[in-house]
Amino acid sequence: MSEDGKERAVELRYEGGAHALPLLTGTEGDKAFEAKTLLSHAGMVTLDPGFANTAACQSKITYIDGEAGILRYRGYPIQDLAAGSSFLEVAYLLIHGELPGPGELKDFSEQLRANAALPVEMRAMIDALPRDGHPMVLLGAAVNTMAAFYADTVDPGDSDQVDRATLLLLAQLPTIAARIYRNSVGEQPLEPDHSLGYVEDFLRMTFGGDSGSKELDELYAKAMDLLLILHADHEQNCSTATVRVVGSSQASLYGSVSAGINALFGPLHGGANQAVLEMLEEIRGLGGDVDSFLAKVKDKESGTRLMGFGHRVYKNFDPRSKEIKGLAAQILDRQEQPDELFELALRLEGQALADSYFTDRKLYPNVDFYSGVIYRAMGFPTTMFTVLFAIGRLPGWIAHWREQRLDPAARIARPRQLYVGPAKRSYNG
Ligand code: CMC
Repeated sequence: MSEDGKERAVELRYEGGAHALPLLTGTEGDKAFEAKTLLSHAGMVTLDPGFANTAACQSKITYIDGEAGILRYRGYPIQDLAAGSSFLEVAYLLIHGELPGPGELKDFSEQLRANAALPVEMRAMIDALPRDGHPMVLLGAAVNTMAAFYADTVDPGDSDQVDRATLLLLAQLPTIAARIYRNSVGEQPLEPDHSLGYVEDFLRMTFGGDSGSKELDELYAKAMDLLLILHADHEQNCSTATVRVVGSSQASLYGSVSAGINALFGPLHGGANQAVLEMLEEIRGLGGDVDSFLAKVKDKESGTRLMGFGHRVYKNFDPRSKEIKGLAAQILDRQEQPDELFELALRLEGQALADSYFTDRKLYPNVDFYSGVIYRAMGFPTTMFTVLFAIGRLPGWIAHWREQRLDPAARIARPRQLYVGPAKRSYNG
């Protein structure tokens, strides 16, 4: 043990010297050695493309064990939250660290509902955006402008302003998303109805709320709530890491979340739910020939991936995909005709899991594999799928941004590099 109280259990030996590094142990026994003195003591940096082995921070929000397929928010297993909680309760838990009491949850919900309406100028701004633009592009843009519409809530150093920005983002993201959707299909946007629940009102603002079946409306609201819970946080994924990196410069919560939305849009991240549906449609177009499609995926030259499969952290199964697959079966069971794309997805999953290409590389269905078929059954166009992911992920982004803001160890994110470009050369020849 050294004077800073940290165990020095890792020794790095290199030509010309050795350096002892502190070893840290997480709640569940995970180990990390602290490399922050490496450059000053040993004159070298670590090289870790994609940060696959780099912990950027210590966090108390979400725990994942990728080998065992474990996901917990603030210590609570995702299966328990999926079975008994609600999205708003989970949002509160992620952001505040503890489950709300009944009075706190009611208050939280009421505050969100009371702040759901957008300022008139913001409505006009959203309505002026290109209506055929991708909803994720418009969502990122609209959220970024919240820093202008609510300019008195952008100071990360002011806790009251941060609380207000947290509330406004959570309250208004569904309203913005529904407005973007209504504009895209040429329908008049609908204003929030504060008497309805968060998810129910989002579905009403999106679809108009007259499906004709109360039972179906309730089932869809329940399904949507569950999907939002399952997407609510996933520790240092690409978009959350982005939110943290942007926030580390003391940018506003709105600007950081807007950056997270743009990171989420990529097809290797949240955009995968749209890409899965497009892939299933492509296979259907090939007459449902799963074998040929999988052969193309396995041919590295083709550049084709099995979308909705594989994960940086899960190397056994993604616990979220199990929950979602069950939900998909429940929703699609209610359709008069069997859902062709769901059947195709089941076949594709079965064949991939029986194929050593996928099992050798530990590639299993992820959260995006079945979510799209549910969204499609509910009536969402594919371009809205990643927007729904963003609504779900928002509490996670906010929780991480707020945690970093109060972390005494947090510094501006500024990675190093290993320069391998041209050596010094003369401009004048
Ligand atoms: N289809 C075919 N091969 C794959 C796939 C896939 N979906 N994913 C990984 N591989 C192969 C990859 O070619 C590589 O093979 P080899 O060792 O022979 O070169 C090996 O598996 C390891 O892949 P990697 O790219 O090093 O893995 P990664 O951890 O960097 O990438 C991933 C993780 C999720 C980006 C990747 O699995 C992928 O592209 N999946 C498809 C897109 C997708 O579904 N994304 C959603 C992820 S979950 C939700 C979210 O994050 O939003």
